[in-house]
Amino acid sequence: MEKLLEVRQLKKHFDLGKKQILKAVDGISFHINKGETFGIVGESGCGKSTAGRTIIGLYDRTEGEVIFNGKNIHTLKQKEKHEFHRQMQMIFQDPYASLNPRSTVKEIISEPMEIHGLYQNKQERLERIYQLLEDVGLNRDHANRYPHEFSGGQRQRIGIARALALDPEFIIADEPISALDVSVQAQVVNLLKRLQDEKGLTYLFIAHDLSMVKQISDRIGVMYLGQMVELTESNALYQNPLHPYTQALLSAIPIPDPDIEDRRERIILKGELPSPINPPTGCVFQTRCPMAMELCAQEKPAWQEVESNHFIACHLYDKHKTGDHDYKQVAVTIR
Ligand SMILES: Nc1ncnc2c1ncn2[C@@H]1O[C@H](COP(=O)(O)OP(=O)(O)O)[C@@H](O)[C@H]1O
Ligand SMILES: [Mg+2]
Repeated sequence: MEKLLEVRQLKKHFDLGKKQILKAVDGISFHINKGETFGIVGESGCGKSTAGRTIIGLYDRTEGEVIFNGKNIHTLKQKEKHEFHRQMQMIFQDPYASLNPRSTVKEIISEPMEIHGLYQNKQERLERIYQLLEDVGLNRDHANRYPHEFSGGQRQRIGIARALALDPEFIIADEPISALDVSVQAQVVNLLKRLQDEKGLTYLFIAHDLSMVKQISDRIGVMYLGQMVELTESNALYQNPLHPYTQALLSAIPIPDPDIEDRRERIILKGELPSPINPPTGCVFQTRCPMAMELCAQEKPAWQEVESNHFIACHLYDKHKTGDHDYKQVAVTIR
């Protein structure tokens, strides 16, 4: 498999003044293969959007590297930068806020084409816009209308059409369905899947809800307080979650089978989410972890591959420190 994106030890800190530094993203590493959907999940405020915005270059990174198509995006020459900005697009959570209310759909979709000097022939551009509207399940009659004339789901379709306008290779979808009615969410997910098949797209799909991200992702990374705590294939994450935080997140999802649902054990995390301005020492999760040990407050756990393609940062899985026991025995059973 060919890597499209590689993120290495990426950090984004915000300087809030008065010597306060907010560590929104604090050293995350992962890669995304061509044609794959990689999900990032974690509760609100854990740094998902900041990670996405830093990868696409809306924010300057504090540290680390983003490699796209084999090129380090921080050292691109002007022409390469232009091409990078064409190849990587973003879909936002709030289709209200991300579409200019005073622009028609036609203007919204043609804006990126103008910026990039593509489809300069008027008729060609119009045909392109009509095609894009059809691709996302709208039609050409919608081209001259304004965003407020559409439902939330339709507005998100307009956002998707705009993201597709330059025929990108990679799309970062930042909670693209969180603001939509449940009945519309599946439609938008299905649309994204269909477009992925048709156009060979690669996605970074951000969500705060594990059940949402599961349907669409091949692999999933779980974030907590600016860090990646676990990363593996979608099914493995559901069937064999290893990090106590992932186990807690999963235990909050109802299971459709009533027999299993009856036996489901919910893990309630103690305490509040700490501030990313003063994150806990050692493991960032130690203040809320039901399995925390003394070591967890002292030392930051390493990011290690404990099973094939299954990465985790947790001292429970440090064989050399906790004795050579089978790590599965220390994991909380959630079902
Ligand atoms: N532009 C910014 N300036 C200062 N702090 C920010 C900024 N953007 C986000 N943050 C902070 O960074 C942390 C992560 O935010 P965000 O990436 O939006 O999380 P998520 O998308 O997971 O909800 C939060 O504590 C948030 O308040
Ligand atoms: Mg966000």
